[in-house]
Amino acid sequence: MKIGIDKIGFYTPHLYVDMNKLAVSRNVEPEKFTIGIGQEKMAIPPLTQDAVSLAANAALKILDDDDKEKIDFVIFGTESGIDHSKSAAVYVHQLLGLKPQARAIELKQACYGATAGIQMAKGHIALHPGSKVLVLGSDIARYGLNTSGEATQGAGAVALLISADPKIMVLEEHNAYMTADIMDFWRPIYADKAFVDGKFSNEQYIAFFNNVWRQYKEKTGLELQDYEAICYHLPYTKMGKKALRTILDEGTVVDQERIMANYQISTAYNRVVGNIYTGSLYLSLLSLLEQKENLEAGSRIGLYSYGSGAVGEFFSGILQPNYRKHLQIDQHTKLFSERTEVTVPEYEAIFEETLPTNDRKVELEIDQDPATICFAGITDNKRQYINKSAK
Ligand code: CAA
Repeated sequence: MKIGIDKIGFYTPHLYVDMNKLAVSRNVEPEKFTIGIGQEKMAIPPLTQDAVSLAANAALKILDDDDKEKIDFVIFGTESGIDHSKSAAVYVHQLLGLKPQARAIELKQACYGATAGIQMAKGHIALHPGSKVLVLGSDIARYGLNTSGEATQGAGAVALLISADPKIMVLEEHNAYMTADIMDFWRPIYADKAFVDGKFSNEQYIAFFNNVWRQYKEKTGLELQDYEAICYHLPYTKMGKKALRTILDEGTVVDQERIMANYQISTAYNRVVGNIYTGSLYLSLLSLLEQKENLEAGSRIGLYSYGSGAVGEFFSGILQPNYRKHLQIDQHTKLFSERTEVTVPEYEAIFEETLPTNDRKVELEIDQDPATICFAGITDNKRQYINKSAK
């Protein structure tokens, strides 16, 4: 049975900061951020967007009534959870009006959560071919003002509909994965910003990639030449390139040029959004599919997922006939073109705005946020969400 990605939705908040301007205010040469790190713009989430609302907005535009009838599993990958107990998936299930006969859970393993969700969805569809699974990857990346991680923040969500006979990409049979207990990046329960050992995290990202790439080759017999492109989890766009460079000499000059050119295209959206943790790999895939016009059906795309702590996985998919017709290119172009730039002081003020940690009632100004679904505040310790399109 063919199982894979039937639809892909994406959402990012309407505010961003220019990395050149951030660099100037941090007394750093702009090229460090734009070339050395490889980021041009960084999405800034207002308080009215959290992991739940970002994910709900990402899924809102892709689901039709037939999908809603068939979705019997919602899997939410995030490391920006809003409750220690109740899953973010249950909120999204309600906000999207999905049928009650569905499972809804949250998965956590840093940026790997959505990939775990996709693999779980694949197994579910194999057992229940008529059903569809909604997999969400939604996060807000926060390291703190004036930290070395600051230039690699971001916010956004990707929604993937997984089904049999998918319209966009069939996932191939094999996977290669590994786990090792390391402290490269983590966020203790009491912290609202990540802790990171930056250089170590870079090294481990590459070491995990080399391990799962080798395993996958052994399992499948596939070589670099068999891929049209390889997409990476992109904490920042230079990171995937560093990993890719370690295997490039396995191919001919033609392979190297093709894979590197496609890598550049696969960074297009990540470059102007920043790190969205669990969704980053799929934002990279979306960049490639939407921004490269002549990528042929039948092409094999490799996918490298990395979640600090750490779990890494390599897998691949085959593009389906007419896949481009099922992408939301116009919507995403509009989403990017309608964003508003904020100044560095404005970004800093938004960053410092946080919710109370006691039971105080909170009412947020959602009229300032053009998103259809917003986080509106907290009443009686219960988060309130508003879907502006709901009657
Ligand atoms: N022009 C061009 N390039 C310049 C430059 C200039 N003027 N100045 C510096 N650079 C280059 C440097 O040479 C360097 O390039 P290489 O990495 O190719 O050597 C690059 O800019 C970055 O410079 P530094 O290494 O000095 O940067 P830094 O130490 O300030 O921070 C970082 C970089 C470690 C990635 C930091 O931003 C960080 O900790 N980020 C968060 C952690 C992270 O993203 N880790 C990635 C792997 S973990 C993961 O993937 C999970 C996840 O999502 C978090």
